Amino acid sequence: MAESTFDVVVIGGGPGGYVCAIRAAQLGFKVACVEKRGTLGGTCLNVGCIPSKALLAASEKFEEAAHGLAKFGIKVGGVELDLPGMLAHKDKVVKDNVGGIEFLFKKNKVAWLKGAGKITAPNTVEVDGVGTITASKAIVIATGSDVTPLPGIAIDEKRVVSSTGALSLPEVPKHLVVIGGGVIGLELGSVWGRLGAKVTVVEYLDRVLPTMDNELSKQAQRIFAKQGMDFKLSTKVTGASMTETGVALTVEPAAGGEAQTIEADTVLVAIGRRPYTEGLGLEAVGVELERGRVKIDHHFQTNVPGIYAIGDVVEGPMLAHKAEEEGVALAEQLAGQKSHVNHDLVPGVVYTWPEVAAVGKTEEQLKAAGVAYKTGKFPFTANGRARAGGNTDGFVKILSDASTDQVLGVHMIGPNVSEMIGELVLAMEFSASAEDVARTCHAHPTLSEAVKEAALAVDGRPLHI
Ligand code: FAD
Ligand code: NAI
Repeated sequence: MAESTFDVVVIGGGPGGYVCAIRAAQLGFKVACVEKRGTLGGTCLNVGCIPSKALLAASEKFEEAAHGLAKFGIKVGGVELDLPGMLAHKDKVVKDNVGGIEFLFKKNKVAWLKGAGKITAPNTVEVDGVGTITASKAIVIATGSDVTPLPGIAIDEKRVVSSTGALSLPEVPKHLVVIGGGVIGLELGSVWGRLGAKVTVVEYLDRVLPTMDNELSKQAQRIFAKQGMDFKLSTKVTGASMTETGVALTVEPAAGGEAQTIEADTVLVAIGRRPYTEGLGLEAVGVELERGRVKIDHHFQTNVPGIYAIGDVVEGPMLAHKAEEEGVALAEQLAGQKSHVNHDLVPGVVYTWPEVAAVGKTEEQLKAAGVAYKTGKFPFTANGRARAGGNTDGFVKILSDASTDQVLGVHMIGPNVSEMIGELVLAMEFSASAEDVARTCHAHPTLSEAVKEAALAVDGRPLHI
């Protein structure tokens, strides 16, 4: 290897790591990124955000072609699923995206060190098959996360799959049982449901998307049930056995009670993800963990000077955009700038149809904190653009402080809300009031008029309902 000394060595080439590496290189550092996977982009580009969105987009088109066009006066006959073709679309999207990161590394002169990295001293990383690398300024741990296993239910990625296996099923299961009614369960459950599977979601808690605003998760469940998803809430899986045709799952009420068997031909385990630090050598160099995550201070520094950590492996929501923001802020801090991440305003999106999007506090959080708030809500049934597109399920809800009117939380379910949430994140970054949003001119006819109307509704004066 030509070079063995760098200013910054990033371990992990996911959205946290690769963005940190690029930003650090832009700022003049000599940067290496250690990635053991055969491609860059991490979980997100290889087996996460990107392939799941490619399948969500493709399955949405299939469903629309098969069942959704008659209402627009369009007759379509003989719609057929070409699953290998759909999976090939997904694979191509992934290939193009991961190739794009390799191009960006070349453009920014970031060295990709291919192999597993192990920290052997506060400024030294041993890279499998590459050698000993010195980091004169910083080592950045960006090793991400991995699937949380369910004790007693072995994932074989064939009949019992994680999200990774669920992105490449060779055929549409007749009955897909999803364990966990979180983001992955609903997104990938939607994909296979649209392609013809009967989907049953088994959720331990009494509602799906349990970390989101209660009203939002209740409405989401109602809509997905209407689309044909079956929900077994407050239910735990206690065992699984392989049958000739699939898997027999034993479930029982979470609070205890009579057991029941559910037959499935495929089971998707989606009960969360856990930080990944295997083989990193953290114990040997004394980097502290906290509940499995690498412990950091407000400047992403671990307890060992010179070693930093960002992304899924540290506290906070396990989201690609959160990892990216941290990557940028850390690189800029290393260059002496005063960057920071506003962790209170990380939006969360579920890319089902309709989509679910939220930022800031939920009603439950405001109540628990004793904050007095006002609520404004507007349904998409009253929005002209939503009607024109035949997408009237859902609403926009804005919560603002009862005395100052500052927007504290926004919760939406509806068409394209993944794009609409950005306006509210920006508004909240600038401490906008609901009145500020209400007085902002929104183009007509757009879905975003529902945001303006919800803001007007905070003050009891919506115009179109
Ligand atoms: P990762 O992306 O996990 O990258 C870590 C990288 O480090 C990996 O490539 C790994 O191979 C490498 N690595 C680990 N240890 C070593 C080592 N010792 N040496 C060398 N390399 C190492 N988030 C969203 O915001 N939006 C979404 O739509 C979304 N969809 C998702 C869908 C699915 C199915 C899944 C599973 C996740 C999804 N996520 C989504 C979450 C998102 O993928 C993660 O939040 C994001 O990838 C975290 O980035 P990261 O850089 O921290 O870690
Ligand atoms: P999740 O945390 O979103 O949901 C897990 C669900 O499983 C929860 O509802 C939980 O109550 C339930 N659960 C936990 N243990 C259970 C058990 N034993 N039996 C039944 N239910 C149980 O985790 P998920 O869906 O696995 O996704 C992992 C992470 O990946 C997400 O938290 C998110 O950070 C990221 N992700 C983000 C996406 C996005 O931004 N659109 C898409 C997919 C994943």
